[in-house]
Amino acid sequence: MDADGTASSAGTETRRSVAELYAALTDLVPKGRAEPLHLHRGLWGPDTKTKREGLERATAVLTQGCRLGPGRHVLDAGCGVGGTAIALAETHGVRVTGLTNCRPHVALAARCAQERGVGHLVEFHYGDFMDLPFPDACFDAVLNQESFCHAIDKRAYLRGVYRVLKPGGRWQALDGAFLSGAPLSGEQRALVDAVERDWRLARMGPWHDALAALEDAGFEGIEERDLSAEAIPPTEEIRRTYLAISFLNPNLGETNPSFQEFMDASARYAAGLSKGLFTYRFLSGTRPTR
Ligand SMILES: C[S@@+](CC[C@H](N)C(=O)[O-])C[C@H]1O[C@@H](n2cnc3c(N)ncnc32)[C@H](O)[C@@H]1O
Repeated sequence: MDADGTASSAGTETRRSVAELYAALTDLVPKGRAEPLHLHRGLWGPDTKTKREGLERATAVLTQGCRLGPGRHVLDAGCGVGGTAIALAETHGVRVTGLTNCRPHVALAARCAQERGVGHLVEFHYGDFMDLPFPDACFDAVLNQESFCHAIDKRAYLRGVYRVLKPGGRWQALDGAFLSGAPLSGEQRALVDAVERDWRLARMGPWHDALAALEDAGFEGIEERDLSAEAIPPTEEIRRTYLAISFLNPNLGETNPSFQEFMDASARYAAGLSKGLFTYRFLSGTRPTR
């Protein structure tokens, strides 16, 4: 590891800039709020009426079948400001370790967990999930809530997840940084490139490549679900919210260029998702017990 916690291998530059992007966005987070903060879009199901319900639905879908409860231990890989980890501890009484490569998020998330009364169940660490700093076979589940998109080598990442999972443990992810797999026009390729650049994503591939990566890493019971229709309404809402923020703060793009880039990528991504260029998926695999 480098002194700043990033792995000293190819791709370090990409991971550094991801951390910088999220650090810059943290400046916009209202300080001192006890409400858990989520950096994912949520899912809009048939009965969803509010943003909060959408976020809760996403976390429920993400953890389906994980049998969470007291005595079990979950890794929230790419935990952001701790929203998912804190919600799982509150709802299920499960122990959660959050890992993020964005240093300022660690303290923010830990403080929020304390304020919510789950500080004894949740801990947050600074580090790189491409080089998981945990012993073998220590987690019952590993979750990626919209963070698998930052794994620069999906096969290597999933091999690491497999190592830290107990036999019978599950990896589950929600992510929308997948291509649907249809050939791209020049214009579409340019849009994908811009989203990858401004969201600091790893190179996107067709969603089914992730299934092959799971299989290669040794997982079984592999499952997937297309949730694009549920992801479109909150994605549109995010685009509108960013537009409103930038309208009300016309200088924000200059004072916080990361915000501007994040907003531009959000608008491009929303267009690509609604046109079927991107696909939003639930993915899951189990480490065999044998
Ligand atoms: C879109 S945010 C999602 C955050 C959180 N899972 C949530 O849903 O609120 C992606 C997160 O992944 C983290 N991340 C990206 N690459 C990472 C890496 N290599 N190691 C650890 N965390 C990483 C970023 O810092 C960021 O917080």
